[in-house]
Amino acid sequence: MSVAEIFDSMDYGPAPEAATQARQWIDRYGGRFWHFIGGQWVKPAEDGWLTTTNPANGEKLGEIAQGGQADVDAAVAAARSAQPAWAGLGGHGRARHLYALARLVQKHARLLAVLESMDNGKPIRETRDIDVPLVARHFYHHAGWAQLIDSEMSDHVPVGVAGQIIPWNFPLLMLAWKVAPALATGNTVVLKPAEFTSLTALLFCDLCRQAGLPDGVLNVVTGDGSTGEILVAHPDVDKIAFTGSTDVGRLIRAATAGSGKELTLELGGKSPFIVFDDADLDSTVEGVVDAIWFNQGQACCAGSRLLVQEGVAGRLIEKLKARMETLRVGDPLDKSIDIGAIVAPVQLERIDQLVKQGVEEGAELFQPSWACPADGLFYPPSLFTNVAPAATIASEEIFGPVLVAMTFRTPAEAVALANNTRYGLAASVWSENINLALDIAPKLKCGVVWVNSTNMFDAACGFGGYRESGFGREGGKEGIFAYLKPAWESGLADIGDPAPLPTPMPPQGDLGLPPVDRTVKMYIGGAQKRPDGNYNRPVLSPDGDIVGEAGEGNRKDIRDAVEAARKAAGWATAAAHLRAQILFYVAENLDARAAEIRDRLMAMTGVRKARATKEVTAAVSRLFAYAAWADKFDGAVHSPPVRDVTIAMNEPVGVMGLVCPDEAPLLGFVSLVAPAVAMGNRVIAVPSEPYPLSATDFYQVLDTSDVPAGVVNIVTGEKQALAKTLYEHEAVDGIWYHGPAAGSGMVEAASVGNLKQTWVNNGKCRDWHDRRQAEGREFLRRATQVKNVWVPYGE
Ligand code: NAI
Repeated sequence: MSVAEIFDSMDYGPAPEAATQARQWIDRYGGRFWHFIGGQWVKPAEDGWLTTTNPANGEKLGEIAQGGQADVDAAVAAARSAQPAWAGLGGHGRARHLYALARLVQKHARLLAVLESMDNGKPIRETRDIDVPLVARHFYHHAGWAQLIDSEMSDHVPVGVAGQIIPWNFPLLMLAWKVAPALATGNTVVLKPAEFTSLTALLFCDLCRQAGLPDGVLNVVTGDGSTGEILVAHPDVDKIAFTGSTDVGRLIRAATAGSGKELTLELGGKSPFIVFDDADLDSTVEGVVDAIWFNQGQACCAGSRLLVQEGVAGRLIEKLKARMETLRVGDPLDKSIDIGAIVAPVQLERIDQLVKQGVEEGAELFQPSWACPADGLFYPPSLFTNVAPAATIASEEIFGPVLVAMTFRTPAEAVALANNTRYGLAASVWSENINLALDIAPKLKCGVVWVNSTNMFDAACGFGGYRESGFGREGGKEGIFAYLKPAWESGLADIGDPAPLPTPMPPQGDLGLPPVDRTVKMYIGGAQKRPDGNYNRPVLSPDGDIVGEAGEGNRKDIRDAVEAARKAAGWATAAAHLRAQILFYVAENLDARAAEIRDRLMAMTGVRKARATKEVTAAVSRLFAYAAWADKFDGAVHSPPVRDVTIAMNEPVGVMGLVCPDEAPLLGFVSLVAPAVAMGNRVIAVPSEPYPLSATDFYQVLDTSDVPAGVVNIVTGEKQALAKTLYEHEAVDGIWYHGPAAGSGMVEAASVGNLKQTWVNNGKCRDWHDRRQAEGREFLRRATQVKNVWVPYGE
């Protein structure tokens, strides 16, 4: 082709990246890979193998072992025995190792990038410029955390052995997101890569050997979902970190319920890409390309729902279609390819099936006029218009290069449409009006918002979801805490079984009971409420005397309380100063009734006056503490290595169910309610079952303290039954549970429906008077979720 012809057609010539080095590496292992356990390549216990292929051309790349129970047992044992020495090495020692890994990733960047493209099908441009540099960045950043941990988190210890399960869409990057923070904090790891894409994880094991990482610190067992299942169920694993589909996330939540294992889940999404009518449409088009055609749309945070303001929708769609015509699909190792191959036939079929369903449901499909290469698993960039918000393609995660466009008229409508999903991972907001963009960002129920940008990631900025996109963050300081626990936690005593309680009874008088001083009501939506069933239960002193009665709440009461809490949404955005003032006022009013509440505590629990006084005083102090924290538990501003500020905002979890402890019935209740409310949550508190009266006395304190209706709701009754309704309620976003061990498992199992954030005591008993255990940042962190808002700057 002559230069003149090139100028005429402006076509790209081929620009292939050589695969020789990657093939040589595979050949060195004879094309068959064993597990990496205790620093060695270990032959699998059973003779089962999975073939791994290049999705761009069907070429067999090699075979990986199908890990079974014996392999996972060996890997967990290796991790367990390596963990004390790894933790004992100290922050600086671990920092040196992580730094060495970062350097080796950089040194072998090309090999890693090529191998990843071959195994996964993603364009070399992406693996070379995005995946691998981010992997190195992650290890550098966490080398830094390792160095700082002894001084910055000195009151925390590693969780122990982490089981980590990762998906196929960013194989090496997901390894880095999981492994770097775990190792930095002194944990050891058993990692199971995805069955389609294990090769770069195995190459990384080579790098660990070169870096001299101590044996057993990182172990890799390959295999499919059944290997993952074995790892999840393993009794000697202390934490599971998972990235993958929401369905499997649910299975893992259910499988770990009640096991005491820590859990973080990074799941699916259906992220909105919102375009206001003042957006720069040409930039927006490039943003859309990046949002949905990056990685063939196989990204949990893909901007797969394009929401456009009506006035510009026609123009934007027209520009977008023109741009789609110029996208290039083909060989991932070609440096001028935009879109590579879909990872596996099963995924291609799923995409195809969902697209067909979209057409059947009446949406209009646009695909470019050119055809994809026929020799691999390719799918063209696809755009649906005329889509109803309730259509399958508008709500299901397609996980492919398929964009679904809808329109809106007003900012409020945009927010409603954006939040009309069970997921909550990410969102993009496009507008030249920064005031508008920053007004919209906090209203979006998701963990990451990109303003005039999309798919930006950095180790310093936490990533993770709200709602059914999972819980926990990767990256940032919050990601570090996901691998630590308070040092004092292992010394906690067991709660033991609760004593049998008196049964509920019809309204007093019917049974000829002696007169009691008062029947306390429940507190729902800012008003005293009789229990729906009209039953009360006697509250007895240790001598068996009736000291009062408490309402016997039922499912209806809980549902009413949740509804009241939902309605009090304004609390979440109320000024922190206002929340602080109100909490100070609650403290003042509790103090004013101190003598009365002290007497109630003495009557209910039989404690002496000095102890009851101490509990009331501590409760007042705790309220002061959270009044103080309300406007001081600030977020952060990160500076990722691009021209951008990332605002990490601490947002409330939402509506929270608080199942309060029996120990210290007043102080325990205040210790849960105050931090949750201080951070902008609305709560439904279930007080101690045997000693509910000091909590119900509390409603009078709330009533006189200007706490808005619905922010604090109190429902008394049978703890486990009430709590179960709370756990299963789809409008409850988080649960804190303090009670017998069996209840912890129940909370975790029942929260599977909408994947609530749960925090349970696993049958352990805190000292509610010890401020280290019962007050401060741990509670504030659990009462919030971090949203990272990326705001680029510059001309
Ligand atoms: P998946 O969730 O089944 O696989 C993710 C990882 O979990 C893999 O390592 C797999 O072997 C493992 N796994 C599977 N079943 C398991 C179990 N019962 N216990 C423990 N580990 C298990 O995802 P899959 O089937 O590869 O993709 C299906 C859909 O999931 C995609 O179409 C997409 O919608 C979604 N997905 C989302 C990802 C994300 O980043 N959020 C990543 C991959 C898939």
